[in-house]
Amino acid sequence: MLRTPYYLIDRAKLARNLEIIDRVRKESGAKALLALKCFATWSVFDQMREHMDGTTSSSLYEVHLGHEKFGGETHAYSVAYGDDEIDEVVSYADKIIFNSISQLERYSDAAKDIVRGLRLNPQISSSSFDLADPARPFSRLGEWDVARIETVMDRISGFMIHNNCENEDFDLFDNMLSQIEERFGTLLERVEWVSLGGGIHFTGENYPVDRFCARLKAFSEKFGVQVYLEPGEAAITNSTTLEVTVLDTLNNGKDLAIVDSSIEAHMLDLLIYREKAKIAPNEGEHLVTICGKSCLAGDIFGEFRFPEPVKVGDRISIQDAAGYTMVKKNWFNGVRMPAIAIRELDGTVRTVREFGYEDYRASLS
Ligand SMILES: Cc1ncc(COP(=O)(O)O)c(C=O)c1O
Repeated sequence: MLRTPYYLIDRAKLARNLEIIDRVRKESGAKALLALKCFATWSVFDQMREHMDGTTSSSLYEVHLGHEKFGGETHAYSVAYGDDEIDEVVSYADKIIFNSISQLERYSDAAKDIVRGLRLNPQISSSSFDLADPARPFSRLGEWDVARIETVMDRISGFMIHNNCENEDFDLFDNMLSQIEERFGTLLERVEWVSLGGGIHFTGENYPVDRFCARLKAFSEKFGVQVYLEPGEAAITNSTTLEVTVLDTLNNGKDLAIVDSSIEAHMLDLLIYREKAKIAPNEGEHLVTICGKSCLAGDIFGEFRFPEPVKVGDRISIQDAAGYTMVKKNWFNGVRMPAIAIRELDGTVRTVREFGYEDYRASLS
């Protein structure tokens, strides 16, 4: 048994998502780029690159990693590049998407040898969650003034639009795309490619994949563009668990169990978005609150059901722990960083990375 905590990536579960991505690529003609901001654990890129066309990035380091470890098409995007990084970014990328007209103007020359694009902000929201809504009022994420964009059309050949956020609702996606067609049609007709970004949960249960493919194909044909998708979460959903061990139990009015991990350090997004972790099957008569071991009072994974009382030494699997977890893990409280392990297709489990005190020390000086 491996020492906990560790993230466990299951290649068979990953394969299920990748199969759907392949189907979407085939039936819609869209290309799929892994969004490294969500998942960048390169030990499974060998499997992913068989079913995806490349990567997209949010920074110099991500585009470097995509180029070095994934290959295929490498898209560069960042909310803002600095003068000291643009040449290196361009050296790794086949396409660069600028977030603003001013960045496009500033770096047009530096990026003249690769394909250039601009981020469009359609000002249409799929989410009422302000924190993660790129189309929120006064958003800095992309340009929306058609007249201003017209002035730089000679410098770009495509657009990136990312306005979906955990969107499981095909009709909502369809409706928003129709609004985009309506509002930006005159611009879309003049480009060769359009990336529709991430945030579309097309690998989720019961998602109407056929309708999704048909819609993408129709969009692509209407404007004569190559469509790109940038799945992060959809590529890795439900592929990974965070394996933890119970260190202590107590009852302070409720049964509590403290585990050798921390939601703040190892599954930070749950805390940011105030969501509960998932445990399967979450059934039984014993209701126990699973707590992290950091000093944060609210370091709590959630309240779950177990068939037996939870005791010290028990192992617990926190489900769906691939997206926005390993890329955000941190050394808060010096809590031991989870190792990374892979369950291979033949069922064997292999540790690919362990972290120790030296890594903690090296993260500061
Ligand atoms: C530009 C862009 N592309 C792709 C993604 C990936 O989104 P998701 O992981 O929800 O699919 C994001 C997420 O924020 C993004 O900002």
